[in-house]
Amino acid sequence: MQIQISSSSAATHILLPFFERADGLQLPEQFGGGAIPKKLFTGETGALRHFHQGDRLFLLVGLGPAEKANFEEMKGHFRKVTAKQSAFFKEPVALFIDDTHSEESLQAAVLGLWMGTYRLGFYKKTKADEVDFSQITLDLLAPELPQAAKILQQSTAIWQGQKRCMELVDQPAHLVTPTFLADTVQRLGEQYSFEVKVFDAAQAREIGLDAFLAVGQGSARPPAFVIADYVHPDARIHVGLVGKGVTFDTGGYNIKTAGMHHMKCDMGGAAAVIGALEAAAAAALPIRLTAILPCVENAIGAHAFLPSDVIGSYSGKTIEVIDTDAEGRLILADGLHYMQKHFQPELLIDLATLTGSSVGTFGYACAALFSTDKTLENSLMEAGMSIGERVWPLPLWELYGKEMESDIADIKNYHGKPFAGAITAAKFLQAFTDGHEKWAHLDIAGTAFGDSAFAKSKHATGFGVHLLFNLLQNHVDHGK
Ligand code: BES
Ligand code: ZN
Ligand code: ZN
Repeated sequence: MQIQISSSSAATHILLPFFERADGLQLPEQFGGGAIPKKLFTGETGALRHFHQGDRLFLLVGLGPAEKANFEEMKGHFRKVTAKQSAFFKEPVALFIDDTHSEESLQAAVLGLWMGTYRLGFYKKTKADEVDFSQITLDLLAPELPQAAKILQQSTAIWQGQKRCMELVDQPAHLVTPTFLADTVQRLGEQYSFEVKVFDAAQAREIGLDAFLAVGQGSARPPAFVIADYVHPDARIHVGLVGKGVTFDTGGYNIKTAGMHHMKCDMGGAAAVIGALEAAAAAALPIRLTAILPCVENAIGAHAFLPSDVIGSYSGKTIEVIDTDAEGRLILADGLHYMQKHFQPELLIDLATLTGSSVGTFGYACAALFSTDKTLENSLMEAGMSIGERVWPLPLWELYGKEMESDIADIKNYHGKPFAGAITAAKFLQAFTDGHEKWAHLDIAGTAFGDSAFAKSKHATGFGVHLLFNLLQNHVDHGK
């Protein structure tokens, strides 16, 4: 669905969002004014009502009381419109945003409407929709919002990134392989003119990405170590992003039992980083963004690594593998060290569906945040909390680092105890950041993939793309 900003529209179907007013609501002057019957609609939260007047059909969207409105809920109300009311789009549609709305509600509207057009039925022969959203153009009328064009342009970039992220996570693991992820990034590099390098297994062996290779060695699908470097000529900050790209996590010989099919989501960190990269490039943000995506499949087989193996790593540190299911931290160790050795970005952030422990702590509502820098921690919280992508800090105290000491090697990948799993994983990662003073780790195991009112099974959320975009945009706008 295209959205174009317009000063007038011939559309007969009008989408009208309202904040709640107990004393009743009016149609805008542009549409002839007139009271909306209180019995039909007062703007109550989540209400969707059809209302005819003349040859126009209005779809009234209730946002609840203005003082209680928040981005996440507003976005959800708009998502419902395109997800559940596709018939309304059989005729041309205009969205009218009046002066009771802010830039925030405009962004919630467009991002919600777009997310509602996303469909999971990639492989269904017959589509359930009454319209083909890819053929639809919606007129956006926002005469009172001078920033509307800018908001729309930014939101377009964000949605492109979110859609990319969701499509990568939701499609099955035999299609979204490490090489598929690498090809995706390479195509984006061609489209937006940024550099992309991909190391195959032989090249990775040559330079010593041993921890990365160990995880991928049991799979018939070759690994890919992907490096993308987007450099705007007026770059104001250099940010390094590392994303866990485990295209399927069987657990290896510490094999998973229940719910293994969900582990197609284990490249959710890489997908969020790819989405953020695409969004930043599409919006032409004046930054340098280096992305590293170690992509592997964690499989079993004659060549698979074993619990008790001692493996090398790009940093030179040796690692005792206690558990082959703690694989994400192994590939990230090489990703983080590669970033530090070759790029030294001002900010270093990794995203990973890393531990079940983070889900135990925060459920599906919030990601675990670890950072060596208070300002970066606050920036990430501000970037995410304002849009409902919740992140909350956990400590990086050294006593948890002690848990990862090995007798036989420099470090072990699992402390073997049923507690502090997300924190000890973060401490493991930190050992490979070369003491970067502005590093943050987001454990998105609970937030990347989950249930919603829009599907029967767990599916991608796009978590992280908008958050990272906000972080980058805030740095461009206010240097933090
Ligand atoms: N990919 C999983 C973590 C995960 C769990 C992602 C739930 C998404 C939803 C990760 O590789 C893993 O298996 N972690 C283990 C680590 C343990 C063996 C130290 C875990 O958290 O149980
Ligand atoms: Zn695992
Ligand atoms: Zn994993």
